[in-house]
Amino acid sequence: LPSDPDLVERARAAKEKLGDKVFVLGHHYQRDEVIQFADVTGDSFKLARDAAARPEAEYIVFCGVHFMAESADILTSDDQKVVLPDLAAGCSMADMATAEQVAECWDVLTEAGIAEQVVPVSYMNSSADIKAFTGKHGGTICTSSNAKRALEWAFSQGEKVLFLPDQHLGRNTAVRDLGMTLEDCVVYNPHKPNGGLTAEQLRDAKMILWRGHCSVHGRFNLDSVNDVRERIPGVNVLVHPECKHEVVSAADYVGSTEYIIKTLEAAPAGSKWAIGTELNLVRRLANRFADEGKEVVFLDRTVCFCSTMNRIDLPHLVWALESLADGSLVNRIEVDKETEAFAKLALERMLALP
Ligand code: 13P
Ligand code: SF4
Repeated sequence: LPSDPDLVERARAAKEKLGDKVFVLGHHYQRDEVIQFADVTGDSFKLARDAAARPEAEYIVFCGVHFMAESADILTSDDQKVVLPDLAAGCSMADMATAEQVAECWDVLTEAGIAEQVVPVSYMNSSADIKAFTGKHGGTICTSSNAKRALEWAFSQGEKVLFLPDQHLGRNTAVRDLGMTLEDCVVYNPHKPNGGLTAEQLRDAKMILWRGHCSVHGRFNLDSVNDVRERIPGVNVLVHPECKHEVVSAADYVGSTEYIIKTLEAAPAGSKWAIGTELNLVRRLANRFADEGKEVVFLDRTVCFCSTMNRIDLPHLVWALESLADGSLVNRIEVDKETEAFAKLALERMLALP
């Protein structure tokens, strides 16, 4: 649907009134009506870096989900305020690992006598608490664009990795990029006693994967890839590494949202692409590249938005910007100091990866 012209005008006016005081970040999965107001767009790695590079902005309005706004708060100075236009914009994957569950898991690893060999690597898509746990235990954060480097670094520090919370990104990176086998990986289920694993299984494993997943990317399966190849001969299949291993193994290209965009930019006219990621981004890319004669389709026939990303809509953005312009700070995301200190350690390790 086209954006409501009144709301577009109000967003523009509020942003103009705020001037350099506000910096709007937009993740690639955001709606068109929101992304048009972003000062920068990016994947979660780029947005974390961009947030940290704007010390002059008093307000960072984060059009994305809760864990991204938390990371921005951790990486920006104390007098900068991070605002999430709708506090209900969470992430189901991040919610799959709580601080209590992860502390319990560490006890299980300690019981099995392996905790000292384990380096935690946590996906950006996790709460500030999990990032703090990671920092406290000598680990790093990673995103889908630097998971390989993060794992290489972790294996230079210890013999085993506890990968939180996305089992698919962990498995795909270990197998595709580090040459491990599926047998090197075990899955820790926080809902079962001892994670559903024996001490021997834990001792034999190199990668201990948390049993988390993305509900959006988890919908793609091998049939999605086979069907699209049958429907569109010569199609290139390009998917996000949050997809299941069977999907990633059957794809031609795998990478973060930023990688997906760069790959399409570099693709020749006349090429055909089936994309396995969130639908707002795929639709935008399909429209953008149609003019250049590149055919871009969604990998699956079922509709696949990220419902929490979609919670940030134009009315919420207008409300946040107008409130700030009127001097009222709304929906601030603020991580407590102790959590922030350890989480920052883990995030800074990521930013320092070669
Ligand atoms: P990237 O933007 O880092 O590829 O991550 C995708 C995602 O799921 C964000 O929630
Ligand atoms: Fe979370 Fe998946 Fe949505 Fe990303 S796409 S915010 S991982 S639910």
